[in-house]
Amino acid sequence: MSSSARPTIMIVLGATGDLMARKITPALYRLWHGGCLPAQFELVGLAGHVYDDAGYRQWLADKLQAAVPDADRAMAEQLYAASTYTHGRFEQPETFQKLVQLLRERERQLGQCANKLIYLAVPPLHYKRIFHGLAESGLMVMCEEADSGWIRILVEKPFGSDAEKAEQLDLELGQLFAEEHVFRIDHYLAKELLQNILTFRFSNGLFEPLWQRQYIERIELEILETATVAHRGGFFDGLGALRDVGQNHLLQMLALVTMEQPTDTSANAIRAARAMLLTSVSALPEQSWRGQYDGYRQTPDVASGSTTETAFRLPLQIDSPRWQGVPIFLTAGKAAGENRRRITVTFKRPERCLGPNDNACRYNQVIFSLEDDSIAICFSAKQPGRTFATEPKALRFVYAADLPLSDSDEYERLLLDAVGGDQTLFVSTAEMAAMWQTVEPVLTAWQTDRVPLTIYPAGANPFIPTSA
Ligand code: BG6
Repeated sequence: MSSSARPTIMIVLGATGDLMARKITPALYRLWHGGCLPAQFELVGLAGHVYDDAGYRQWLADKLQAAVPDADRAMAEQLYAASTYTHGRFEQPETFQKLVQLLRERERQLGQCANKLIYLAVPPLHYKRIFHGLAESGLMVMCEEADSGWIRILVEKPFGSDAEKAEQLDLELGQLFAEEHVFRIDHYLAKELLQNILTFRFSNGLFEPLWQRQYIERIELEILETATVAHRGGFFDGLGALRDVGQNHLLQMLALVTMEQPTDTSANAIRAARAMLLTSVSALPEQSWRGQYDGYRQTPDVASGSTTETAFRLPLQIDSPRWQGVPIFLTAGKAAGENRRRITVTFKRPERCLGPNDNACRYNQVIFSLEDDSIAICFSAKQPGRTFATEPKALRFVYAADLPLSDSDEYERLLLDAVGGDQTLFVSTAEMAAMWQTVEPVLTAWQTDRVPLTIYPAGANPFIPTSA
């Protein structure tokens, strides 16, 4: 029997957590509703909370009601009916033995071996224990049919906490799963607008010839959020903004906007092109800035003397013929006064400007904005009338207006691709290692206080200089 005809069991470790509640449950429901999941699909949850199957199904129903209030009840009931649960702590080997028994029972009822998708929806500090638990439980070899289907694993970021720990963790993961079965999530890769960057760049003769150091002045990548760390103090403290969104989302955005053209659109080619770019990126730690919003230390589960950064600005450079010497900046901030997730590519001004003065020629910009899923091309236009005075104008493509986005969110796409075995939107070992290498010197500079920590007012953009 081919793997794609087999039943699929998705096993979520951390099945009562925030990620399961807010992202995975609604995504699963929508995929189920849309008939996108394999014909025989089951969910097995594992977490520390004590529930029986009925209790867990009620938990799912409550979370779905909160996330998708107009969910089709009958459809949702089918999904709950296909869900079972077991509880236990990851440090106890019995937990994984119970899981194997439950899976054996499910496969017995299904009458065959099932494909298994293991989703680690838990804080990364549990990963190591889980890898051991999975290895020792026999789960990896539990099915006795000759072709017993696939076992894949989905892991969330951040993977490791520095270059060395990430490499160590990856080696352990590699002993259990071959690279083609490892799906490292960076949900930014699944954002439709970011996927469009490759098409925008490589399918339009208008941009590709200009996309290089001779014409581009600078590139800025930003994730600014009004939200504070709120209830995620335990996750965020000690981790910090650089590991939370810099080492992954912002660097992946950079890869898409600066990588060379992949040889084709296969997962291997795209991941190799991203990895090649990422290995040529280096940070300038001494020129970086790090800040913490005022009040952060009063957040629940945050250490009272915490020096964790909630915002940063980091200059980078790319060592390649295309980008040598082009300044690149990564910027991120919590409680930063505005929501602004964007990439701004600024072009050099023409050497001679046709206009009443030099200001007539503004910097042309291409702005990819995740706030409204738009791509804008900003240019100077002549004001009507008898002078050559100019004003800024933009051509803007907005997804919602021109190409309606489906209501599928990133997690639906990621789950679907993991079930389908497509790794394009997942981070490879090589990419992950390169991203850690880039941020490592910055983490060291910050840990040794070579860059001071600035306290900024919560709710104010720390990157806009205040007029003193
Ligand atoms: C997550 C971070 O990975 O990305 C969060 O842990 C951050 O701190 C979030 O808020 C941003 O993602 P999005 O999709 O809301 O831009």
